[in-house]
Amino acid sequence: MVQTQKQKHGWRFTGTNGDFKLEQPESSSYLYFPLVNEGGMMSSVSPKLHGQVASGHNTFLTPPLSVEDLHNSRASRNFWIHLEGQGVWSAAGNSAKQNAEVYTDEADPVELEAGLLWHRVTRSSLQLGITAEITSFVPCGQDRVELMKVTLKNSGSEPLELTPTAAIPLYARSADDLRDHRHVTSLLHRTYTSAYGVEVQPALSFDERGHRINHTSYGVFGAEGNGAGPVGLFPVQEQFIGEGGSLDWPEAVVLNTEAAEAVDGAALEGYEAIGGIRFAQVILQPGASKSYVLVLAIDEDRIDVPVLMERYGSETGFDSHLKQTQAFWADKVNTVQFETGDSAADQWMKWVTLQPVLRRLYGNSFLPYHDYGRGGRGWRDLWQDCLALLIMEPGEVRSLLLNNYAGVRIDGSNATIIGQQPGEFIADRNNIPRVWMDHGAWPFLTTLLYLNQSGDLEFLLQEQTYFRDAFSSRCKQRNPDWSAADGSDLRTAAGEIYKGTILEHILLQNLVPFFNVGEHNNILLEGADWNDGLDMGAQRGESVAFTSFYASNLLEISRLLDTLQQRKGLKTVELAEEMVLLLDTLGEAIDYESISGKLSRLEAYYSAAANEVSGNKAVLEIGRVAADLAGKAEWMFEHLRSSEWITSTSGDGWFNGYYNNDAERVEGEFAAGVRMTLTGQVFPLLGAAAAPEQVPQIIAAVERNLLDPNIGYRLNTRFGGIQQNLGRAFGFAFGHKENGAMFSHMTVMYANALYKRGYVQEGYKVLDSLYRLSTDFERSRMYPGIPEYINEQGRGMYTYLTGSASWLLLTMVNEVFGVKGLLGDLLLAPKLVKQQFGPDGTASIETLFADRRLRVVYKAAGSVEYGEYQIQSVLLNGSEVTLQRVEEGLLIERRLIAALSAEGIHCLEVELV
Ligand code: G1P
Repeated sequence: MVQTQKQKHGWRFTGTNGDFKLEQPESSSYLYFPLVNEGGMMSSVSPKLHGQVASGHNTFLTPPLSVEDLHNSRASRNFWIHLEGQGVWSAAGNSAKQNAEVYTDEADPVELEAGLLWHRVTRSSLQLGITAEITSFVPCGQDRVELMKVTLKNSGSEPLELTPTAAIPLYARSADDLRDHRHVTSLLHRTYTSAYGVEVQPALSFDERGHRINHTSYGVFGAEGNGAGPVGLFPVQEQFIGEGGSLDWPEAVVLNTEAAEAVDGAALEGYEAIGGIRFAQVILQPGASKSYVLVLAIDEDRIDVPVLMERYGSETGFDSHLKQTQAFWADKVNTVQFETGDSAADQWMKWVTLQPVLRRLYGNSFLPYHDYGRGGRGWRDLWQDCLALLIMEPGEVRSLLLNNYAGVRIDGSNATIIGQQPGEFIADRNNIPRVWMDHGAWPFLTTLLYLNQSGDLEFLLQEQTYFRDAFSSRCKQRNPDWSAADGSDLRTAAGEIYKGTILEHILLQNLVPFFNVGEHNNILLEGADWNDGLDMGAQRGESVAFTSFYASNLLEISRLLDTLQQRKGLKTVELAEEMVLLLDTLGEAIDYESISGKLSRLEAYYSAAANEVSGNKAVLEIGRVAADLAGKAEWMFEHLRSSEWITSTSGDGWFNGYYNNDAERVEGEFAAGVRMTLTGQVFPLLGAAAAPEQVPQIIAAVERNLLDPNIGYRLNTRFGGIQQNLGRAFGFAFGHKENGAMFSHMTVMYANALYKRGYVQEGYKVLDSLYRLSTDFERSRMYPGIPEYINEQGRGMYTYLTGSASWLLLTMVNEVFGVKGLLGDLLLAPKLVKQQFGPDGTASIETLFADRRLRVVYKAAGSVEYGEYQIQSVLLNGSEVTLQRVEEGLLIERRLIAALSAEGIHCLEVELV
C-alpha cells in the first residue's frame, strides 16, 4: 500500500502472514493483545501477561480492568519459579523485584512474538540462567477456554533446582461487583479443588434487585507437559500472598511454603480465590527444558475437569489446538489479501482485516481501553460492521441486514438496545431514551453496498416488522399506555403485527429527517450524530454534515427506484398509507423553504402513525415517488451549497457542519480562530452535496486547517472553551478522542470520499498518513492495526475495536483496487498510485465476489501512475473477456463469474497500458 517504514524501534513482521516480533515490549506501556473465539471467550494479554479473561459483563474470570491497571495492578496471570538458594523469579516478569529492575541493566531480556491470534513472550534471566517461553491463545471453537504453555529452559551452565507455581487470580463474578460489594460477593464464593486445579462456583449472583442462584463456574487448572497433575494447590488468595505479602511478592512463593495437597472435591467457602498451582520440584540440567500447560475456563455449570484436561491439558493437546487456531484465523483473514510493492503494508492490512471480526466478537467492551459498556453493540456499529462482513463473510449478510431492519420505528428512529439474537431489539425501560440523528442514514449505505455486490434487488421488496416501545415522535412523546406485555412489534389498528417492505423502512428513515429541521432548515442534531460527543445540542442544534448525508441518500434511493422500474418492471410501490404525507408532492405539496411547513407536516405524520398504523397500504406510482425524492434531494443540495458554504479569507472554502444549541453557526473564521470540522466536509464529499468546483477548495481548507504533521488529519480545529451548547466532546482536552484527535473513522471516510470524487493522489495521501502514524511505533506504541484515534502525543488509542477498520478495508477493496459490485456485476476501476505497484509493475488483490474467490492482478505495461494507465485487456483464467466499458470503469457480467467453479481461486489478469 505504501513504502516500507523504517522502524528505529518497534515491531517488525517476521514472514508474510502477519506474524511479528517486538524486543523489550514491556518498555512500552498500554500494549495489549486480543485473544478470543466465536464461543464467547474474550481475553486480552499484555507483555507481562496482565489483561483480563471474561465471557461477558457478568462473567469475569480475572478482575475486570482499565488500561491503567495493566501497569498498576498486581492481579495478573503469573508463573513463579522458586530457585533453590537463589530466590524467586516470575516467568511473566511480574515480581516486585523484576518490576524494580525496569530502568536498570538488570532488566530481563524479553522478546514478544505474536500472530493471528496467538501471543508468545520469551524472557530470560541472565543472572539465574533461566529462560521462559510463555505462549497464550484462546482455542477456536465454542469452548470458553484460554490456554497458556510455559516452557522453562536451563540456559545457564549449572543445574537448576526449581519449584514452579502458577498463580492466576480467580475473581469469578460480575464486573459490577468491583464497586458493588466486592468483599460481600467474595463471601458467595464456593471454591472446589481437584487433581488439576481450582474451580469457583459462586453460590449466588449478587444483584440487590434479587439475588439469583448462580451456576457459572470459573477454573484454573494445570498440568505438566506430559499431562501429570500438580502436587498441591493454593486456592485462597490471602493464604497464597500471606500476611504482608502481595500478588507480586507472595509468601507462598517467596518462602516456598508447602501447598495443601489437592483433594478431589474439597470445598471452601468465602474468600477471594486464586488458581495457585504448585508443580513438583524439578532439577533442570543445562540445556534441558520442561513445559507446563495452564487451562483457564468458564462454563455454564460445574466444569467437567477430566474432559477439559483430556482435551487441552498436555503439551500435545496444546500444540494441536494452537495449530488449528492459527489456521482458523489465517483462513478468516486471508479471504481478502493485498499484494502491493510493500509486504509490510500488505501484512499490516491483515491486522486491519481482522479488526472488524474482533469488533463483532467483543462489541465495544472487554479490551482494556474499552472499559465501558456491557458487551452490546450500538445501532450505528451494527451497520458499519456489516460493511466489512460484506467483503469477508458475505454469505451471512443478507439475513443480518433483514433482521437489523426490525429495529426501525415507524417514526424513522430506531431501537438502541440490541438483544443477543439477530433481529432482537429491546425496549429501554430505565433511561431517558435518546435519538442519534445519524442512525437513519447508515442502513441505506450498507444496503446499497449489499445490492451492488449481490444484485439482489428483491431484497428491497421483502417484508419486515417494525419496532415499537413506549416512545414515539422520535422519543419526544411517551405513551403511558404501552406496557412491555404489548410486545415490541408495531401493530395495526386491528391489532395485527404490521409488516412493510425493506424499501418502506429505508424511505421512512430518510424521509422523516427531511422534515425534522431546525431554525436554519437543516436536520436537527437531536441526541447527537456520528460524533457521540456532540450531545448537548438537543433542542436547537443542527447537523449540517448529516443533512448532506440524508440528501445524498434521497437521491440514491430515487435512482434505485428508477432501477427497480427498469430492471424489474416495477410500476408501483406499496407503502403504509400514512407515509403519503411525507411524499408531499404526491398529495398536498409543501414549500421546502418553510421550516414551519415542514414541522407541521411532520406533526401530521406523527399523529397519523402514532405508534400504530392503519394497516392500509397506498399503491403509488414508482416514478412519482422517485421524482418526489429527487426533488427533495435537489432542494437540499441547493440549500447546502448556498447557505452553508463558508468562503475563507485564504481563498478556499468549506461547509459549515453544525449549529449549536443557541442556533449559532459553529464553523467559520472567528476572532478567536478558525473553527472547522472534518465531519462537516466528509459527508458533502461522500455524496453529491459538494459541487465539483467545491471539492478542491474543501481539500485546500482541510490541508490548511486540519492537517497536523505530527498527528495527521484532526477531527476539528481547537474551538477553545467547553461548548456547553454543543457537546461533551469539547470538554475533552484538545487533541484527544472526539475533540481534535486524528479520529481514524472520519479520516478513512475522508479518504474514501476523495477516491470516490476522483482525487486519488489526495486520497492516497490520507491513507498513507494513517498507515504511517499507526506503524510509527516510537510514537504510536501499538501493535499492527488501526487505532480508534491518534492522540496529541501520537499514541494509538483504543486499539483493535474501531469502525474505521471496516471502512479502511472497504476503501482498499472498492476504491484503491477498484474491485466492486455494480448491481451484481463486477466492476473494475483501479485507483492505484505508483507507490502501490511492485517493481515488476503489478499489484494484486484476492477477494470474494459472487461466492467465488478471485485474484485480480493488475499488470502495468507502461506508466504506473494513476491517470496515465487504463485497462487494455482482461483475461479470466487465461481466456480473453470482451470488455464492456461503463462510466465508472470496466464491467464484467456476474454470470461469467458465477459460472466459475466454487472451488479454488480464479485469476483475472488485467493489463494496464
Ligand atoms: C466510536 C464509536 C462510533 C462513533 C465514534 C465517534 O468510533 O464506535 O460509533 O461514531 O466513536 O463518536 P469507532 O470506535 O468505531 O472508531
